[in-house]
Amino acid sequence: MECVYLLLVVFHFTAGCTLSGQRYREFTGLSGGSVLLPCSCSDLQTTPQRISWKAKTRTADFTEVITDDQYRDRVHLFNKDSPANLSLLISDLREEDGGDYICQTEKETRMFRLLVKGCDLVNSGKIEEVTGFSGESVLLPCSCTNLHFKPSTVRWEFNPRNSGTADEEIYPNQNKQHRNRARLTNQNSRNLTLLISNLTAEDQGVYRCSVQHDHKYIRLYIKARETPKHRPSEEPPATGDTEKERMWCIEL
Ligand SMILES: *[C@@H]1O[C@H](CO)[C@@H](O)[C@H](O)[C@H]1NC(C)=O
Repeated sequence: MECVYLLLVVFHFTAGCTLSGQRYREFTGLSGGSVLLPCSCSDLQTTPQRISWKAKTRTADFTEVITDDQYRDRVHLFNKDSPANLSLLISDLREEDGGDYICQTEKETRMFRLLVKGCDLVNSGKIEEVTGFSGESVLLPCSCTNLHFKPSTVRWEFNPRNSGTADEEIYPNQNKQHRNRARLTNQNSRNLTLLISNLTAEDQGVYRCSVQHDHKYIRLYIKARETPKHRPSEEPPATGDTEKERMWCIEL
């Protein structure tokens, strides 16, 4: 009886999955990119009885990665196809994913520290000056120094007087004044430049572009296009181009 018990114990500790690799490793990913945290049984014919990935980040305290909302649709395991491969792929990385990760079987653990590099803005912290004209559109430039970064959060705010008054968010949420007039130049790109159309004098002020840990300012001046003072009757107004085209069509 004792012998059988001993055999079982020996079997338990020799069979099954022994993890390969170092106990602790560090990885760096880029915001918007992906990272593979490698964890596998040294004998690829073995299968662990239990596997879990836990994360300790600023927002999570050793949470179960696979079931956590923060990682929903962004994590992938490969052990369905190769049971000894316990590696974790995290895609569409966010800065808040940075932290400690643990690959855990019934026998062993492997620790990882993940650093996620975010977006540093061009002209970070500075004030750029831009002039726009009433009735026209203007581009307020904002971009990451490295275009491979994809910041997870972008926000544009407006302060008409740049006094102590609170900034009003105009992107992604739009205040009344900018409703339907402010949008990113390209929703899918990593360029955060804001396009404001149909400018009015009230749009003059200071705009702030911010990502997770960085921001920059743009001071926007609004001017009226100078309409020529001589022979005003022969000069079409600044917005007259479409009007002229329409007249042309009628004449045709
Ligand atoms: C586990 O799967 C990933 C994704 O296919 C692969 O990159 C990695 O090399 C595999 N690890 C092992 C030990 O086979």
